Amino acid sequence: MKAVLVTGSTGGIGTATVRLLRRRGFTVYAGARGPADFGPDDHGAAADPGVRVVPLDVADPESVAAAAKRIAGEVDGLAAVINNAGVIVQGPLELVPADEWRRQLEVNTLGPALVIREFLPLLRTGSGRIVNVSAVTGRVAMPLLGAVSVSKHGLEALSNALRLELAPWKIPVVVVEPGTTRTEIFTRAAAAADAALQQADRSRVDLYRPQLAAYEKALARFKPGPVDKVAEVIVRAVEARHPRRRYAVAEARTFGAILTNLPAPLRDRLLATATGLNGIKAAES
Ligand SMILES: NC(=O)c1ccc[n+]([C@@H]2O[C@H](COP(=O)([O-])OP(=O)(O)OC[C@H]3O[C@@H](n4cnc5c(N)ncnc54)[C@H](OP(=O)(O)O)[C@@H]3O)[C@@H](O)[C@H]2O)c1
Repeated sequence: MKAVLVTGSTGGIGTATVRLLRRRGFTVYAGARGPADFGPDDHGAAADPGVRVVPLDVADPESVAAAAKRIAGEVDGLAAVINNAGVIVQGPLELVPADEWRRQLEVNTLGPALVIREFLPLLRTGSGRIVNVSAVTGRVAMPLLGAVSVSKHGLEALSNALRLELAPWKIPVVVVEPGTTRTEIFTRAAAAADAALQQADRSRVDLYRPQLAAYEKALARFKPGPVDKVAEVIVRAVEARHPRRRYAVAEARTFGAILTNLPAPLRDRLLATATGLNGIKAAES
């Protein structure tokens, strides 16, 4: 039996990945912070003994340790740990509250580190690998997305450090980079940002109105792709005999490659144009 762990399995990409891994014959530990529902197309996942829902809040060290203990009681090793759980905290630095910054880093960066730490013994015995789900913001920092950019850059740094650190045990560390994908993550991010703005100093919020409006317009231009495409790339990273360091969904590969290879001044100009921020001047005070 080949067993894997997927964190954040109750979300768009996580749920699609659980389904596809099941179809490929894996026993899947589906990490879930709350109730798990794998939908009508779940091939009976709720009743499927091959999908084992495990309570897992990656931001809570005790929850991570408890999940590792439970899984260690059921299997001898894991073929992969897929760090998929993630959130987007958006908005200008000046308007993002400290606890939102903390949530961002705890879920996207510290969370995977805690999960990897607790599950390494099972990865060693299972000749397993680590798959970290990053984003284009892990390679290119975006304005008004500073918090998530920091968190995903951190995840990329963690992946690069661990790749060498874990080489003696031949534990591959793979980064998967989805493109913009149709999930609830953007609605959730917008709702959290709106709640934060309600709490912020009105005069400081007013300073950023043009940028916030431009960001919303720019976001509406993105055409998100299907979750199944990302799940396929994740499963390729899990199954490859000799996994590469990075697997990117095609669109992210092109976008990331262009932006990371441009000289910084040109990249800044391009990003400012793409996000609609070019030409916005501070209002006269
Ligand atoms: N969608 C995109 O365009 C896109 C692009 C690039 C990268 N990604 C990355 O893909 C991954 C999956 O995102 P998604 O688009 O599928 O988002 P999503 O639909 O919002 O799902 C996110 C998942 O993460 C879980 N989660 C959040 N906080 C958690 C915590 N503290 N502990 C455990 N689980 C937690 C959520 O659980 P709850 O339901 O309990 O909140 C949910 O299951 C993320 O790492 C994201 O950064 C997404």
